[in-house]
Amino acid sequence: MEQQLNDLRQTAMAELQDASDMEKLTEIRVKYLGKKGSLTSLLKGLGSLSPEERPRVGQLVNVVRAAMEEALTAKTEAIKEAALEKRLASEKIDVTLPGRKAAIGHKHPVTLTMNRIKEIFMRMGFSIEEGPEIEQDYFNFEAMNLPKDHPARDMQDSFYITEEFLLRTHTSPVQARTMQKTEPNQPIRIISPGKVFRRDYDATHSPMFHQVEGLVVDKNVSFSDLKGTLEMFVHEMFGDNVGVRLRPSFFPFTEPSAEVDISCVMCHGQGCRVCSGTGWLEILGSGMVHPHVLEMSGYDPNKVSGFAFGMGVERIAMLVYGIDDLRLFYENDLRFLRQF
Ligand code: FA5
Ligand code: MG
Repeated sequence: MEQQLNDLRQTAMAELQDASDMEKLTEIRVKYLGKKGSLTSLLKGLGSLSPEERPRVGQLVNVVRAAMEEALTAKTEAIKEAALEKRLASEKIDVTLPGRKAAIGHKHPVTLTMNRIKEIFMRMGFSIEEGPEIEQDYFNFEAMNLPKDHPARDMQDSFYITEEFLLRTHTSPVQARTMQKTEPNQPIRIISPGKVFRRDYDATHSPMFHQVEGLVVDKNVSFSDLKGTLEMFVHEMFGDNVGVRLRPSFFPFTEPSAEVDISCVMCHGQGCRVCSGTGWLEILGSGMVHPHVLEMSGYDPNKVSGFAFGMGVERIAMLVYGIDDLRLFYENDLRFLRQF
């Protein structure tokens, strides 16, 4: 039996010597030290030995087991080490490779358009005023000459929060806010960009969109000032070749009123889905500030006059970039947004 033990030790050690991966090591551990392993089976034979031999052979079994355990552990370490060495040798870091480009975003086409609009008006001497998106019914409608129950309120279907507060339907309330915080009859020349909200949804209407309001009040401001300013803006924005037309219209807060249309860039005036077959796309509403609107905000219509306008930024962006559906701006499809 002692001979058997020594043979076992020798073959096990030889196999261990040749092992080169972890699977092989596990195999050896099971084969010799496992529950059904060779050493365990030998141990069962202890019973057949004489009482004198038993302790000596038992001790030898323990020595062999310990030696094998130790050798296994040492080999495990060696294999791990070798694997690491190998990985380090093949893993090269090339410090001369160009760095990875940080993916930074860029401005949204509506923001780009908004910035161009602001730039053009600032060069004409306008300054910027802001107003709240959650607005009082008073500023959104009443101060704009739209008393409660006025039928023209239907032109702008709104999102009400309470009876007194709503999401503003246009940037026009900033007209009243600006006049009320300025000394009566003092000159004003502002634009007011921002978000507005309406119950609208189709290829040229979205429930949230952007407007830029304009207000000029001073002595002797006339309709030709309005026309000159807006034509100047359109040609700066779209170039000299684009068709512009002023179309008589109605707003309760201006008199007279005009809407400005640009020839449709999608169909070059032929008529298409974007321009509803008319060849023109409305980009803004405008007019001479209604005397009652001046009066309600502390200005004297006998001393000063003014003009105002409110333009749709998405509509302008559609024409600038040749986009046939306004909703594309808000679908957040990167294939679309990456083009700007
Ligand atoms: C107004 O909102 C007036 N406050 C404009 C105004 C200001 C007139 C000052 C006179 C004096 P209107 O509802 O037409 O007008 O809207 C103005 C522009 O916003 C339109 O010409 C259009 O370009 C844009 N617009 C209107 N509704 C939407 C919508 N749902 N989605 C995108 N753009 C819109
Ligand atoms: Mg309109």
